[in-house]
Amino acid sequence: MANIQKIEQIQDEMTQWRRDLHAHPEIAFEETRTADFVARKLAEFGLEVHRGLAKTGVVGTLTSGDGPSIGLRADMDALPIAEQTGVAHSSTNAGKMHACGHDGHTAMLLGAAKYLAATKDFKGTVRFIFQPAEELEGGGRVMVEEGLFDKFPVDSVYGMHNMPDMPVGTMSVRGGAGMASAASFEIKVIGKGGHAAAPHEGIDPIVAAAAIVGALQTIASRSVNPTEGIVVSITQFHAGENALNAIPDHAILRGTARSFAADAETSVPAMIRRVAEGTAAAHGVRIEFSYLHRYPVLINAEGPSDIAFAVGEEVVGAGKMDGIYPRIMASEDFAFMLNARPGAFVRLGSGFEGRESPMLHSPQFDFNDKALPIGASFWARLVETVLAK
Ligand code: NI
Repeated sequence: MANIQKIEQIQDEMTQWRRDLHAHPEIAFEETRTADFVARKLAEFGLEVHRGLAKTGVVGTLTSGDGPSIGLRADMDALPIAEQTGVAHSSTNAGKMHACGHDGHTAMLLGAAKYLAATKDFKGTVRFIFQPAEELEGGGRVMVEEGLFDKFPVDSVYGMHNMPDMPVGTMSVRGGAGMASAASFEIKVIGKGGHAAAPHEGIDPIVAAAAIVGALQTIASRSVNPTEGIVVSITQFHAGENALNAIPDHAILRGTARSFAADAETSVPAMIRRVAEGTAAAHGVRIEFSYLHRYPVLINAEGPSDIAFAVGEEVVGAGKMDGIYPRIMASEDFAFMLNARPGAFVRLGSGFEGRESPMLHSPQFDFNDKALPIGASFWARLVETVLAK
């Protein structure tokens, strides 16, 4: 493994930053303390700092002569989860925690900025993009819509996510589709309430909604090419709040759909609507359907993925760089940046050695600080490669 020596020397400092951020988690578009922290560090390192894109976004610019430009992106937000790690740097904001390692992503990109600002062993411009609201709200989309790449042009853009199911000291990237699109939807099932002892005089929305839940599972198993991959999950089922002996007049189903189909924005809601309406008709109820396409499929460009692979091999060593990059049904709003500029999304191993590594979004998750110099070294070498003198 060949971390950059000068970055290894700031490992303790990066760890301090990371744990400070971990202790003060902020969720979507509320990352004011985090943005203050990031902006202050970038200014200390001598970067030009811009704030306010997507409310709390921060962009640092570092230029060294004329040359191409590259964007490096880290996400800053935490999750509405109550922390259960028991570590000394646990969340001090009740009900919020860095359960996805974005504290580590932010610290690694700051570490790379500190090193690159001091060494400037490149020719061109680096944009350090710190985005809010990756989870749930699509802060990456908002930054792009508010003109991120018009105000801060880049020729390519890269992102990184830690993966606790990959051992620390490994990385992975490959061209092509890597993460699914995501949508949320709601189906209101409208029947006719009445006495629970006389169901034939009403129209029971609960039995109909239960049938819809089951029928929706035929989309993945019977309607979509099994090699393409789709997930339709009902995650909320609400019905009846009043008397135990009353049939309610409606039920509400909510859920999420994930797909790799290029036309997911139109094909997936059409399938859900067809199944829900058909099943509703069979039960004599009607439905109201709403669908929100949230994140597109994440697609790594071939050229940038090859560059990232080669740089990763330099940092973690040949054989520790995984070129398989299995597709996952989770989604990621860096996909909006990759739709705007060619680039790649790299996976960074963050699994602990010799002990269990809680999964992302678990209340037991804590970022593995051993990954900090690896991620920061990758960023620095990527800049020195793409913007080589
Ligand atoms: Ni994440």
